[in-house]
This record gives sequence, structure tokens and C-alpha cells, in this order.
Amino acid sequence: MEYIKIKNADQIVKNSRYVINNPLNYKGKWHEIFNNNNPIDLELGMGRGDFIIEMAKTYPNRNFIGLEINDSQMVNGIKKLENLNLKNLKLICIDAREIDKIFAKEIDTIYLTFSEPWPKKIDEKKRFTHESYLKLYDKIFKKKKHIILKTDNKVLFAYSLESLSNYWYTFKRVSLDLHHDENKIPNIMTNYEKQYYKEGRPIFYLDAIFES
Ligand SMILES: C[S@@+](CC[C@H](N)C(=O)[O-])C[C@H]1O[C@@H](n2cnc3c(N)ncnc32)[C@H](O)[C@@H]1O
Repeated sequence: MEYIKIKNADQIVKNSRYVINNPLNYKGKWHEIFNNNNPIDLELGMGRGDFIIEMAKTYPNRNFIGLEINDSQMVNGIKKLENLNLKNLKLICIDAREIDKIFAKEIDTIYLTFSEPWPKKIDEKKRFTHESYLKLYDKIFKKKKHIILKTDNKVLFAYSLESLSNYWYTFKRVSLDLHHDENKIPNIMTNYEKQYYKEGRPIFYLDAIFES
């Protein structure tokens, strides 16, 4: 997917007090960054950041990390943070494939929000619920594995249900229409989700766990 390029995005990202510029130095030490032992949740592909920022505001007793590969996308999030002082939020601008170099077993929940669906078979490995990613997540989950996924893409959703269940995850909640589910699911919307909601498109949701 092509995203609008923002001038000097790399410098804006580098100079933000929310961004950890050398995340590889903090493997196993993220609690020191947050200065507490609260759970740490990670969003892969945070885009413009609405979700992770709102999560950090809503749940002050958890820590949040927004990861995004595209610096221009991240700048949109940084701008929203200018007048906020959220001690429980950090951002990292890096490829999600690097997460095992950045984190030891210290992540509580991984959020996969409207990730690119990579519909072609040849790109299957790039899907965030491909087995190769699930193996990466094994390396960074603290104890219990916990993944929450939201998407508007039926094919990616079906693929994710199968891939996760083949990897022995079980499902705490599944919804084929998150915003109209008769059993209300607490939810904070992402940027993409706000648009799809306006258009009346159903959002697919899953909450998967693996406890050894
Ligand atoms: C469709 S957007 C969704 C953004 C946001 N989660 C939302 O729901 O509004 C997908 C985002 O994932 C990012 N992304 C794609 N592949 C990535 C990767 N390998 N590592 C980190 N971010 C990635 C893209 O740059 C983009 O910002």
C-alpha cells in the first residue's frame, strides 16, 4: 500500500520524545523504560496511531508500544501526541519482522489492527498471522499468548482463524460484526476502522489465547 510521504518525517520521528530510536538496546528492559512492572501491549502497524494513543489514555495501568514501519504514517501519530503527556506510551519505527530482536519475553498482548491482507499466495508469509509471525510472537510473549485482531477483510480473517487454530490458539471471542454484536465487546477504534464504520462495513474481530 502507498502512503502519503511527509517531508522530513525521519527527523520528526527521531526527535519525538515518544519514539525510542534505538529499540534494539532495550531487549528485556522495556519495564525500565516505563519505570513500572505493568503489562506491556504491542500494536503492529499502528498507522496514524489513533488506537494506541486512545488505549494508553483509557488504560493508564498498562503500557503500550505502537510499532510502525512507515515514518510518514508515524508522524501523524506524533502530531496527535504533541500536547499529551502519556507516560505509558512509546513508539518504535521499525519492520515488525524485527520484533524478536527488540523484545525478550515481555509482551502481554499483541494487537493486529487492519493489517495489510496480502491477498496473493506468493505474499502469504507477509501476513501478520502467518506461522512465521506466530513463531516470532512466541519469542516475545511473557507467558500466556494473547492476540487481538480486527479487520474488514474476510479472507484475511478466515485465514487468521485457521492459522491461529492450527497453532493451538483458542478463541475467547469471535465476532463477524464487532460494532453490532449483541454481546457488546469493549472497543477503541483505529483510523481505518472509523472510516469503515462510517461506510457501514462489518468489522471482523477475534481474541485468541494460548495457555501452556
Ligand atoms: C492498513 S494500515 C492500518 C493502520 C492502523 N492499524 C489502522 O487500523 O488504522 C497498515 C499499517 O501497517 C504498517 N505495516 C505494514 N507492514 C508492516 C511491517 N512489516 N512492520 C510494521 N508496520 C507495517 C503500514 O505501514 C500501515 O501503516
